[in-house]
Parts: sequence; C-alpha cells; structure tokens
Amino acid sequence: MYFSLWVELSYLFSSVLFVFGLKKLQSPDTARTGNRLAALAMLIAIVATLIDNEILGWIGIAGGMVLGSLIGGILARTVKMTDMPQLVGAFNGFGGGASALVASAELVRVQGIGDTLTLSSGLTITLSCLIGMVTFSGSFVAFGKLQGIVTGSPITFPFQKTFNGFLFLVLLILGISVMGIFNIGGISSLAIFSIFSAIALLLGILLVIPIGGADMPVVISLLNSYSGLAASAAGFVIANNALIISGALVGAAGLILTMIMCKAMNRSLANVAFGAFGAEGAAATQNGSSDKIARSVDPEGAAMILAYAQSVIVVPGYGLAVAQAQHDLRKVMDNLEERGVDVKYAVHPVAGRMPGHMNVLLAEADVSYEKLFDLDEINDDFERTDVVLVVGANDVVNPEAHNPQSVIAGMPILDVDRAKSVIIMKRSLSPGFAGIDNPLFYMDHSMMLFGDAKESMVELAKEVREA
Ligand code: TAP
Repeated sequence: MYFSLWVELSYLFSSVLFVFGLKKLQSPDTARTGNRLAALAMLIAIVATLIDNEILGWIGIAGGMVLGSLIGGILARTVKMTDMPQLVGAFNGFGGGASALVASAELVRVQGIGDTLTLSSGLTITLSCLIGMVTFSGSFVAFGKLQGIVTGSPITFPFQKTFNGFLFLVLLILGISVMGIFNIGGISSLAIFSIFSAIALLLGILLVIPIGGADMPVVISLLNSYSGLAASAAGFVIANNALIISGALVGAAGLILTMIMCKAMNRSLANVAFGAFGAEGAAATQNGSSDKIARSVDPEGAAMILAYAQSVIVVPGYGLAVAQAQHDLRKVMDNLEERGVDVKYAVHPVAGRMPGHMNVLLAEADVSYEKLFDLDEINDDFERTDVVLVVGANDVVNPEAHNPQSVIAGMPILDVDRAKSVIIMKRSLSPGFAGIDNPLFYMDHSMMLFGDAKESMVELAKEVREA
C-alpha cells in the first residue's frame, strides 16, 4: 500500500519535471537544463515502474542503464548536426514500435488466460497498435529518405490517397473486430490482430513515401506527436499514469512544433502531407533566370565592406550547417566587433533543416544568445543596417515570398533586401530547398561571394584581420 503510494508519487514528481523540462526548452540558454530535467524525470519514471512491477532486479536495472547511456552517449557524440533529424526519426520509430508491442503483449496476455477484452481496453489496445505501427514504419521511411537509403523525391502512384483511405477503412473494420464487437468468419482474433498490424505498418510506409525528403523534418515532428499518442494509449492499456502523462505531453508538443514549422513556411499540414512538395520544387528549378547577372565579390572586397561598416547582420542558413563554418564565422564577427562594428544574428524559424538548427550551430560556436534575434524582432532593423552577410541561406531571404504566384508566397522572410548592401555566401546561384530562383542575388546592392562557406569564411577571416 505505502509502496504503491511511493510509486504514484514518483510518477507525479516525474510528470512535474517533464512539464518544467519542456518549459525550459523554450529558450536556447535554458534548453540544456530542460533536457536534463526531462532526462531525470524519465529515469525516475522508469526505475519506479521496474521496481513496482518487479520486472528486474537492481543489477538488471543498473546494467540496462549503463548500456542505454552508452548507446545514447555514443550516438549523441558522433552524429553530425545535419544528421540529427534522422536520428530523432529513428528514436520516434522505436518509441512507436515499443508502444505497439506493449499493447500487443497485453492483448496476447488477455487472450492467453481466456479473458474477454472490455470495450475501453480493446479500444486503447487497438489505438496504441495502430498509431504505434504507423509511427514505426513511417519513421523508418523518413529515416531512409534523409539518410539517402530511399529516394528523397516524392513516390506517388495513381489513386494513392484513395488506396490509403481504403486501407484505413479496412483497419477500422479489423480494429472493431479485435475489440471483440463482432467476429469475422470464425477467424481467431489474434490472427485478425496480426493482419491489422501488418496493414498498419503498410499504411505508415504509404503515408510517408509521397512526401519529399526536405519536408521530412515536419513529418518527423508529426510522427513524434504520434509516438506520444501511441505511448499515452499504451499507458491506458497497462494503467500507468506516468506513461499516459508523458505520452500526452509528447503528443501535444510534437503537434505544436509541427504547426509552428508549417506556419513559418506558410504551408498547411495537408500541403506538407499530400502536396508532394519536392516534385513541385524540381519543376520550378527549370525556370531559373539565366539571363540575369549577379555581381560577385572576392573575400578581400567583402572584408573591406564589412570592416568599414557600422552595423552588420548575419543571416545563417542550411549552407552554414553543411559547410560547418560557424566557428570561422564567429572569428570574423569577433574581429569586426573589436573594430567597433555592431553585429547581430537574424535567425529564421525554419532556417536549416530542423527546428532550432541555427541556434544549435551558433551555440556550438559560443555566439552569445543576446546577439540572436527572431524574425519579428529584427525585420525592421534591416533598412538601418549597412551590410547583411547571408551565409548559406536562400529561401528564408527570398523576396519571391511577396509574389502571390510563387510557391513560397506568403512565407514570412527576413527582409534583407532592405539593407544598404548584402553579401551572399554560397557556392552557386542554385536554388535552395523550395527549388526556386532568388531575385535577391541579382539586385544592385547584392554581391555574391561564391564558394564553400567554410573555405570562404577562412579567407574572409584572414582578410578582415588585415583590413
Ligand atoms: P535553403 O533555402 O535550403 O538554401 C541553402 C543554400 O545553402 C543553398 O541554396 C545552397 O546553395 C547553400 N549551400 C549548401 N551547401 C553549401 C556550402 N557548403 N557552402 C555554402 N553554401 C552552401 O536554406 P535556408 O535558407 O536555410 O531555408 C531552409 C529551407 O528548408 C526553407 O525552404 C524551409 O522551408 C525548409 N525546411 C526547413 C525546416 C526546418 S524545421 N528548418 C523543415 C523543413 C523544411 P549552393 O548550392 O549554391 O551552395
């Protein structure tokens, strides 16, 4: 009696820690503490569950913790920043799969002792399996697309949505049968459950293949939300309060993050899920403006312009992550600040390929959080700024967003074209993720500093020192 009270109190405590951890993830300077609080909460919840159910002895618990920490530690240390979305995708997949397995085990247990399912446990088992299986297979397709194992282009076939709708209907009928409401032609409910699980896995694959590789971060965030819902449903199956609460938190947080990303791209969730965006972008690429002329500048010229400016705003983008130029960027900016230049960084919410991508890169290079500004905070500053240095960014500074006919129409952008001059560091005039040309490159006050951002930044650092 007292023991189970302690377990419930541990669950309550870990749930409160989860909420505080999430709250602290709101800002880059408290995010590390937030992560630690949430990790501690998970540890408390896991240990309380294992002790409560007498699943493992202390040696087993300690062994599992050491092994899990080792795998997590090695992955966290070795994975490249640009590969982070697929790592999160794989974690989501395992989360969804685990919830589905918990629910399946409960079904097998109930059937094994010859019991019948209550309506509520039948419903939660079915839901947990359905969402968990879809999350599992969908997440690994997303992983494959980002890792280059599966093509990143949308894979579509005729009547795809109708077929997916049909599969969903079949799942609904099989699910109701698994819940024991009716029997299908004398087939055992475990056999029906196996068919149900296989179709749910297939649906997960079919839902993700038509989505372009570059939209995968949004999909991964959505699947993250699904994995939370599956865990929450599994919590109801095994009557575990910590699982219900933490699953619901993950479900809600994942959905909010998905909506934030969609809003920052000015695209609906339906457009991400069914728009086959990568294919559209590729078509738009063909219409590049080969007749226009972009002015180029060399590192020496760029260094002179920067060194004699009073104010500089840096706009980082995906290319900064690819080139890993953040440390050299900071050196250049430190040097400019020593010369009395006012330096700020403008961070677009969907710059890069995952939420907070630029914040993490700049934090790695020890750029102070106080110098980082969101789109809303900094957009009015551009017209008063001498030089904007765009490093490997493209779509997030593309004025085409103001053109109602454009594929990125309405996407909020950083209005760098309003600055007195703009230096753009990238390798070519190629488009970014959206696959469309960028008129900024051809404006009179714009200059292209062509080359890999890291190599150019090293040159720039040298030239700024000598300027
Ligand atoms: P992009 O528009 O994708 O442009 C990145 C640019 O970086 C490219 O044009 C490329 O030009 C350049 N680049 C690549 N490697 C480089 C290197 N080694 N050195 C220098 N430049 C390099 O990036 P963005 O402006 O950050 O915008 C992000 C896009 O991703 C948006 O369209 C957004 O909607 C989308 N998206 C973002 C997210 C999240 S959560 N961040 C999620 C889904 C989709 P070159 O090839 O000419 O060098």
